[in-house]
Amino acid sequence: MLQETIDKDQAARPWQDYVVPQRWEAFTAEVHAVWDLLFARQVELLGSRVVSPFLDGIDLLRLSHPGVPDVEGLNAILEPRTGWRTVAVPGLVPDDIFFAMLSERIFPVGNFIRTRDQLDYLEAPDCFHDMFGHIPMLAHHDYAEMTRHIGELGLAAIAADQGHKAARLYWHSVEFGLAKEEGELKILGAGLASSFGEAHFSLENVAVERLPFSVERAVNTPYRHDTFQPRYLVSQTLEATVAEVLALTPDGLLAL
Ligand SMILES: [Fe+2]
Repeated sequence: MLQETIDKDQAARPWQDYVVPQRWEAFTAEVHAVWDLLFARQVELLGSRVVSPFLDGIDLLRLSHPGVPDVEGLNAILEPRTGWRTVAVPGLVPDDIFFAMLSERIFPVGNFIRTRDQLDYLEAPDCFHDMFGHIPMLAHHDYAEMTRHIGELGLAAIAADQGHKAARLYWHSVEFGLAKEEGELKILGAGLASSFGEAHFSLENVAVERLPFSVERAVNTPYRHDTFQPRYLVSQTLEATVAEVLALTPDGLLAL
């Protein structure tokens, strides 16, 4: 009986197969030093060019403490606040698994970090991208709820064989979105906030397109994952984008 209950639970949560121990205690001094180098460099680069809830999240989660954060320490702050928690994964997870995690307020973070001689080259998102780029915004209640909702939309879209619609919505908001804050253009997405090269590029390059964000535009705008984006969608305010995404139903997404 007990085994049957466990099996059912496992079937309902296929993402659990992708979770591994972070093994924080096994990280070498070099791993922590690479984190510290990336953290110091990125904080200086971003300055106030990123939305303020991101900077609030960095403080709240004490990400400036030296060394790679351990997932349990992060969760001790994050979970009571917004219900989100992080789990360690060995690399990219499939889209359906990723969206399933988001729908349950689980964010997967890589259990590895890039090497010092490849600070700007990533084959797969590492713990700096995941923890520095994504986790601060998950301490913001409304944004956290929007991210969970995208997870649900993603599962529905994949079930309807239209997963690309949810992937684009995610990409143009959570990963590579820009946002206006008190009239100023700021970085919103984790892919930009954690990137040394693309952070300033996204704000300053004169050749790229910057178009107002709407759910419809996001869903119908393809993206590049192999190079800098040729266009960015700009949330007119963070609150407006959160409200628009939260109002989107699975059927509404599929109809776009
Ligand atoms: Fe990401």
